[in-house]
Amino acid sequence: MASSGRDGDESQKGEAESCVGNGSSSKDGYQQSNEDEGAVELIRRYFAEKLGFSEDKKEVFQEKVKALTEASVDGVIKYIQERNCKNIITMAGAGISTAAGIPDFRSPGCGLYSNLQKYKLPDPQAIFEIGFFRQNPQPFFTLAKELYPGSFKPTLCHYFIRLLNEKGLLLRHYTQKQNIDTLERVAGLPAEKIVEAHGTFHTSHCLECKHEYTVDWMKERIFSDSVPTCEKCDGVVKPDIVFFGEDLPTRFFVCAEKDFPKCDLLIILGSSLTVQPFASLIDRVPKVCPRLLINRERAGHRDWVMAALQMGRGLDFDSRDNFRDVAWLGSCDEGCQMLADKLGWGDELRKLVVDEHVRISKQQNETSKRQTEYPSEKKRAESEHQ
Ligand code: OAD
Repeated sequence: MASSGRDGDESQKGEAESCVGNGSSSKDGYQQSNEDEGAVELIRRYFAEKLGFSEDKKEVFQEKVKALTEASVDGVIKYIQERNCKNIITMAGAGISTAAGIPDFRSPGCGLYSNLQKYKLPDPQAIFEIGFFRQNPQPFFTLAKELYPGSFKPTLCHYFIRLLNEKGLLLRHYTQKQNIDTLERVAGLPAEKIVEAHGTFHTSHCLECKHEYTVDWMKERIFSDSVPTCEKCDGVVKPDIVFFGEDLPTRFFVCAEKDFPKCDLLIILGSSLTVQPFASLIDRVPKVCPRLLINRERAGHRDWVMAALQMGRGLDFDSRDNFRDVAWLGSCDEGCQMLADKLGWGDELRKLVVDEHVRISKQQNETSKRQTEYPSEKKRAESEHQ
């Protein structure tokens, strides 16, 4: 549903926001029918278990035996080591980049939505709404200039995800921050392993004639304080990040359909899990698949009222029956270092972060030296950096 529940306060109440467009495309229909079936199945299983229908009881019991021996971080570590996990999916939000100096959206005080007063918006999320953007694109481009990556370095969490991949454990990394920072790529995660669910700044398109523009073209316009307009038709050109009211990239739907049934461990990092359909991915893993949340606060928690209303199921940390959901509350970097230590890769991760940060600093120094000596190279260096 377009732009529904976009109000920041709504998100605090745990209601899901949706950034999917109005179009009744098949993928929206697909998602809805999946959710409907899921909710009916949930209710069926709940009553079957409570009423003691033997077949269901047996099924649930067998599932519990298959998942974690204990719903704790140590249980997850044991599971990774003993079950030979090969299809871990990581789902990341803006919280994995805050340690790099990039604000998230909803953290009170320091999040982006708490600091947009100067734009005089009808509400903070309007800056990422396609309807508002069409009427008044200037605030978005002013913000984009402010946030444009300079010399950010990936966080330890980004390198942990890279290590998961290098160890052959990572099926895919789904990220929902509007990838202006591309820190996953800078950290060395191959493009085919990344799904940028809320798009990327890598390309831009004219809203009218759909003509494509490069990141360099867009960057030049953003830094010249002008609203980028199409050279063909004069329409406004927008980076290919997903706004509220727009559909997610096709790659998101294609990969999610293929990947999630295969997932053997879901690790959710630094997301408030408030924006749909990204947030509902947590319900698309197999019913026995363990789910580990690493975040400063609880997120995506099961709300039985919402579940009964067929509006998602969520994570279940507290119930007696929980046999697969684990919350580790704290910073993503500390959580990932803790996991790496327990997996025996702690020193390798520390060394990787130090070496890579030294390499990036060196590269940045060389780039700025070259720019000072040969200003004409500035443009080329900027595109290298991206
Ligand atoms: P949010 O800002 O909603 O949530 C970030 C989460 O990360 C919060 O739960 C924080 O507590 C947590 N957090 C922040 N820093 C952390 C750290 N260092 N370690 C651990 N946790 C940390 O961002 P997302 O859930 O990623 O959508 O939502 C992003 C989407 O919301 C964007 O794509 C955008 C926005 O509305 C659209 O514009 C369509």
